Amino acid sequence: MKAIRYSAYGGPDVLEYLDLDDPVPAASEALIAVHCASVIPGDWKVRSGQLQEMFPIELPTIPGRDGSGTVIETGSKCDWAKVGDEICFLTDHAELGSYAELVTRPQEMTIPKPKNINFAEAAAMMHAGVCAWIGLVETAGVTNGQNVLIHAGAGAIGGLAIQIARAAGCNVTTTCSATNADYVRSLGAHHVIAYDQENFEEMVFEQDVVFDLIGGDAHEKSCKVLRSGGTLVWLIARPFEDVSTHYGVTCLQAIVHDRRETLKSLAERVSEGILRPQVSCRLPLEEATKAHTMLERGQNSRGRIILDIETCM
Ligand SMILES: NC(=O)c1ccc[n+]([C@@H]2O[C@H](COP(=O)([O-])OP(=O)(O)OC[C@H]3O[C@@H](n4cnc5c(N)ncnc54)[C@H](OP(=O)(O)O)[C@@H]3O)[C@@H](O)[C@H]2O)c1
Repeated sequence: MKAIRYSAYGGPDVLEYLDLDDPVPAASEALIAVHCASVIPGDWKVRSGQLQEMFPIELPTIPGRDGSGTVIETGSKCDWAKVGDEICFLTDHAELGSYAELVTRPQEMTIPKPKNINFAEAAAMMHAGVCAWIGLVETAGVTNGQNVLIHAGAGAIGGLAIQIARAAGCNVTTTCSATNADYVRSLGAHHVIAYDQENFEEMVFEQDVVFDLIGGDAHEKSCKVLRSGGTLVWLIARPFEDVSTHYGVTCLQAIVHDRRETLKSLAERVSEGILRPQVSCRLPLEEATKAHTMLERGQNSRGRIILDIETCM
């Protein structure tokens, strides 16, 4: 199979487009011909070597945390999938990933592809949706009528987070660049704060929940805009300093897991048309280096970069 692989940590140019041996499904696994794979910020951060403590991986490795495709073979005891099934899947950073024509997956890392979205959107739904769902539903427990501030609403996770909060009946404020104000409104944001023109900490107060997808300075500033007893949920907060006691708020890290119950909840909302994942741009698999460069330079906006994979089986 064709795949992207790297053998040493480094810049985007360590990514190589290669012919590798086809993977073989274990007894309970399905072999999936991958049609689309997401390129997420974590992919370049792991590739650069900066997350070695968090994700100890063996090199060489194939990057890619999620994707979508069609089952083309099943293991001898695989009773949950059949050839032709359209499927979305997760892979872990520590496993061989989705930038490849083929992957093998156990049932717990898959979910049937919602019929109302295409394969690119199906890949964009997976890791981004899981993070948004875990942050807002499982960690913050957002409820009807709450004031919720979502940072980075024009990103892949932020875009789904806006929709989740809006569907829960929250009053949604989001931060993004001025150029994306109409875009985030179209996703359901009631109020928009342009981070390149305004300081959110001077614009918004008494929030019940802040979802921090930026970190750094935004962490403490976000505590200031919470009501007493409010909750800051963060996915990224480096450098992290817990200032919750000082502000009388609760700071919770959204711990990303890949439980199938979460995948099911997410896919159900997508099937019902309540949530729609966003795709910012599509590139062929062999242009993974370009995709990593764009993400690393902060040049991606309005959803996931998707690698299109033409399976030559
Ligand atoms: N720790 C974990 O387990 C974990 C898991 C998943 C994700 N993350 C992190 O969460 C972050 C978001 O992920 P993602 O996939 O949604 O990224 P993404 O799709 O690349 O989105 C990035 C967005 O950040 C926005 N942005 C940049 N600076 C901003 C600022 N000062 N204020 C408001 N928005 C700003 C940009 O908005 P504009 O386009 O409008 O400029 C851009 O759309 C990444 O840093 C990722 O590494 C961590």
